[in-house]
Amino acid sequence: MNDQNHSRHVFRTSQLEEADGPGLNPTNNRTMGEIIAARFSRRGFLRGSMAATAISATVSPIALLAADDAHAQEAIEGSAFNFPEVKAGVDADHHVAEGYDADVLLRWGDKVFADAPEFDPANQSQAAQERQFGYNNDFVGFIPLEGADDHGLLVVNHEYTNEHLMFPGIVTIKDGEIELAAATEDRVNIEMAAHGGTVIEIRKTDGKWQPVLDGKLNRRITARTPMEISGPAAGHARLQTNADPTGKEVLGTINNCAGGVTPWGTYIMAEENIHGYFMGTLPEDHPETANYERMGIPDESYAWGEFEDRFDVSKEPNEPNRFGWVVEVDVMDPESRPKKRTALGRFKHEGAESAVAADGRVVFYLGDDERFDYVYKFVTAGKYNPDDRAANMDLLDEGTLYVARFDEDGTMEWLPMIHGEGVLTAENGFESQADILIETRRAADLLEATPMDRPEDIEPDAAKGKAYVMLTNNTKREEADAANPRVENAFGHIIEISEDGGDLTATSGRWEILVQCGDPSIAEVGATFSTATTEDGWFGMPDNCAVDSDGRLWVTTDGNTLADTGRTDGLWALDTEGSARGTSRLFYRVPVGAEMCGPCPTPDLTTFFVAVQHPGDGGDDWEGHGRPSYYEDLSTRWPDFSDDMPVRPAVVVITKQDGGKIGA
Ligand code: FEO
Ligand code: CA
Ligand code: CA
Ligand code: CA
Repeated sequence: MNDQNHSRHVFRTSQLEEADGPGLNPTNNRTMGEIIAARFSRRGFLRGSMAATAISATVSPIALLAADDAHAQEAIEGSAFNFPEVKAGVDADHHVAEGYDADVLLRWGDKVFADAPEFDPANQSQAAQERQFGYNNDFVGFIPLEGADDHGLLVVNHEYTNEHLMFPGIVTIKDGEIELAAATEDRVNIEMAAHGGTVIEIRKTDGKWQPVLDGKLNRRITARTPMEISGPAAGHARLQTNADPTGKEVLGTINNCAGGVTPWGTYIMAEENIHGYFMGTLPEDHPETANYERMGIPDESYAWGEFEDRFDVSKEPNEPNRFGWVVEVDVMDPESRPKKRTALGRFKHEGAESAVAADGRVVFYLGDDERFDYVYKFVTAGKYNPDDRAANMDLLDEGTLYVARFDEDGTMEWLPMIHGEGVLTAENGFESQADILIETRRAADLLEATPMDRPEDIEPDAAKGKAYVMLTNNTKREEADAANPRVENAFGHIIEISEDGGDLTATSGRWEILVQCGDPSIAEVGATFSTATTEDGWFGMPDNCAVDSDGRLWVTTDGNTLADTGRTDGLWALDTEGSARGTSRLFYRVPVGAEMCGPCPTPDLTTFFVAVQHPGDGGDDWEGHGRPSYYEDLSTRWPDFSDDMPVRPAVVVITKQDGGKIGA
């Protein structure tokens, strides 16, 4: 049980992402592998062709071919990108390629409505935060209005809150570590209002994007916004609570990481690390015990359960079954209730990017971000109707969920998760499809899906019948396999799926590793970027990604630091085709302590929206700060650089100074 007077340690995503799960080290210590990887990343030895010896047999043959200077030259010439690369490094500011502008569009606390109060960090309130832009922007989507490229709705997830950076007067430093004062109800209320999402109209006028504060569709979604639960698990007894005996109505959405925009223009918010919000102990022998253990619930990172019973599993044991879903928001009706679409399963949903397949069905690619968890896809039963938006509004309630098995020979199978088929029967504790969806991970375990190195964002490329899977890292693997070829995978890798026949609905396909990430100059790291990739161009820990309307892949990262890779996170352009395949270049980098989210290109590719998440959360290892960073002693005050303003997560707009296409 949680003690109200017990001070909490500071919350970080890395703690959540490294928390419970099979094979995880409960001490949360850095493993030897992480330490070795960090040490290698700072040493510039064993450069050049020796690195090729560490390349596994599953790597693209083209990447192998590119192992000398002649091929490097060929790779540069074959690139789909053309821009002057940013120098990798760490400092207090952000940096974009020369010839481009990077302007802050929306910061934490900015008005989302014309009548919202001005941001006053010393006097925050729930009421103000409910009318202002939330914290820790992650997914960014752009939904054009009337087909325009210069006018639309920006939809932004607010994944979580960093109290030590948000609130004055709550941090003490003990043994060099940040400790937070006991939570208060006011603080928790502000945190809950800073979670969720924002829908806001934006317009480009005289070349500059601006929010439209009197936009009729502007909306804040929070951890308390009333929502519906829909699809096969809606109303199930395991989703019923004291507050909601119907099992069909829930308050709010939490830890919305990546997401998506559907072909019919709705906004998808994926619920990821939900375990951190629950506290308390389940009654002894409670039927949800194993289910919650598989999800790492409770984790007690947040104190919400001290003030709201539903976040305490001893008081409301079914509430965690009402989170961990994909949420769909009808942005054209600000009064509409967002819907939790249970047909897409319950796990730590990273995102849900989709594309229309040749036969009109819609395919959503889904990652479950935990070490040794799985890659999924969902294929709608119905077909997309481009001429009738209303006809598409419940496509996500019916369809087939699949989980991926990656075979050693480079083929793969999508295993259907259908009640009554194979092992998914009452004998194994699945009485109905609802049980499979509530305990998707356990169902996937039984189907013997391939445990992956933390699946993050997955982006389909409909034109090519492919999908790109970001696998961010995993240093706790005891055995490598073809699709996760490094035991000490500190820097992650990217898999390219080619669906059979180029058909996104296919139930089998082929896969190939596009790149193994990390410093390619150090053989032991085993990175496989093409040799045209410069010392600024490589990255570790791929996280979010986008395939733009020209079919070019952009990757953002989470976890690059001075200690681990000698650089901050950023936005990298990664070639996937021809002689340039596997060549990466740094286009934009974030301030110290931040992670890079988004990225979101407009359809005409003249604008990129990117999200700078948790800037200033770190800097202990950077000479510009060299100690813990918190509200009163920040490693950066980006983006305002004003003594009376804390550091603020923000969405940044990148445009080319000549108005042209980004990266071309
Ligand atoms: Fe919120 Fe999987 O990163
Ligand atoms: Ca992510
Ligand atoms: Ca994406
Ligand atoms: Ca992330």
